[in-house]
This record gives sequence, structure tokens and C-alpha cells, in this order.
Amino acid sequence: RKGKTPEEVVKQYLQKVRGPSDEDCNICMEPLGGPSGYKGPNVADLSRSESVGRLAQCGHQYHLQCLVAMYLNGIKDGSLQCPTCKTIYGVKTGNQPPGKMEYHIIPYSLPGHPDCKTIRIIYNIPPGIQGPEHPNPGKPFTARGFPRHCYLPDSEKGRKVLRLLIVAWDRRLVFSVGTSSTTGETDTVIWNEVHHKTEFGSNLTGHGYPDPGHLDNVLDELKAQGITEEDGQL
Ligand code: APR
Ligand code: ZN
Repeated sequence: RKGKTPEEVVKQYLQKVRGPSDEDCNICMEPLGGPSGYKGPNVADLSRSESVGRLAQCGHQYHLQCLVAMYLNGIKDGSLQCPTCKTIYGVKTGNQPPGKMEYHIIPYSLPGHPDCKTIRIIYNIPPGIQGPEHPNPGKPFTARGFPRHCYLPDSEKGRKVLRLLIVAWDRRLVFSVGTSSTTGETDTVIWNEVHHKTEFGSNLTGHGYPDPGHLDNVLDELKAQGITEEDGQL
């Protein structure tokens, strides 16, 4: 048998709500005391007592039907993200197409990191056909500018970022398929929400060094994808 049903996925992250709340559901904007404003397909009829749930960690409340509809609208990987505060339940994954991530040390220093060598990451993703997890399933996608070269200082913190980027790559979160904000091209491989430095010795594009806040920014962006220090322990 297949994995959990969408309702089962959502319910594993929910706690029962006691009294009715006088707040609105942040998904359908209807009162939590009344029915869900979202009548999606594939949603079983629910008894009154389980029509509203509270996300176990952050405590935000929603109609169960609204959460199920939101889940069905996404990547359906068994994880759920609170639409109010972005708390992640389960392990978030993305829709990055198949490809390769490699890295090695190069014996030069980055501007702003004079005391260490440099890690060069090389991403390579070929063009292909979009899968069900992409915006236009069955349609081709392009892949521009690959292999893409990225740079990190080979410092303790830089190596930590590398470890977490490897986790992000394995969870398919480094790239996505969509519309490039730089070129406007649709159905193409684009960077996801984790910033990379693609310029080595200069900063003509704004994606180069020096940038003292870069490593901390990336750690924050990784955290927003559910990837934290514990994920990099291996
Ligand atoms: N280097 C690193 N990050 C970039 C670059 C770049 N040259 N250009 C854009 N980004 C960042 C943006 O700041 C944004 O946060 O990637 C995110 C998505 O931007 P898009 O333009 O949609 O992404 P994409 O089309 O993949 O990037 C365009 O990046 O690496 C280069 O060769 C690639 O020229 C292409 C450019
Ligand atoms: Zn929340």
C-alpha cells in the first residue's frame, strides 16, 4: 500500500483544539468556528470535533480541510509548513531536477577571507522534462549557465555551510524549476531560496566577495528550509 493519505499526513502534526476559537483561519480567511471556506476535492467529510486543529509546535490553528487542501497544492512529500510562521513539520524537500553536485579546494583566497583557501562547488543540471512536481508536467525545461561554479571560504564556518548545502542538495532544495527573475525565461532551472556566490575575485554582479554577512545569511536561509546544524553532523 502507498504511504499516508493527505489527511493522515496533516493529522500527524496536529493536536486537538478544545473550545472554539473566535479567530479566522489564515488559509481560507473564514472563522475557525465555522466550516472551511475551501471545499477541495479528495477531502473526506469531517466530523465537527476534528474540523479544526492546532499545529503541535507553533500552535497556529487552521481548518483541517484547509491544511489538507494546502498540502495537496504543494509537493506532497510528507512535510507541512505553517503558512503563518513557516515552522516546518517533517522533512521539507523541493523539486530540484536530477543533476550533480561536486566540490573541491582551490589554493586561492577570497576577498575578505585572506587566511584560508577556497571551496569551489560545481553544480551541473542538464535540461529535461518536467515531472508532476514541476509547474508544467510533461513540458521540457531548459538549464542555463551550467555548470554553475560557487565559492565558499574554506574556514570552519564555510565548511559548515558546505555540509548543510550538501543536505539541501540531497533534499532537492538548491534549485527549482520556474521563471528566472534575471532573464524572464519560463520553464527553466533557477536558484531556490538559498543564496550562492558565483563570482570569485570580484563583485560585479552582487553575487561575489567580499560580503561579511554571507555565511550567516546562508545559514538563515538554510534554516528557513528546515536545515540546521544538527543536519550537518554526519
Ligand atoms: N549568482 C548567484 N545568485 C544569483 C545570480 C548569480 N549570477 N543571479 C541571480 N541570483 C539569485 C537571485 O538573487 C535570486 O535570489 O538567485 C535567485 C533567483 O534568481 P533567478 O534570476 O530567478 O535565478 P537564475 O535564473 O537561476 O539565476 C540567473 O545566475 O548563476 C547564474 O548562470 C546563472 O546567469 C544565471 C543567473
Ligand atoms: Zn504557525
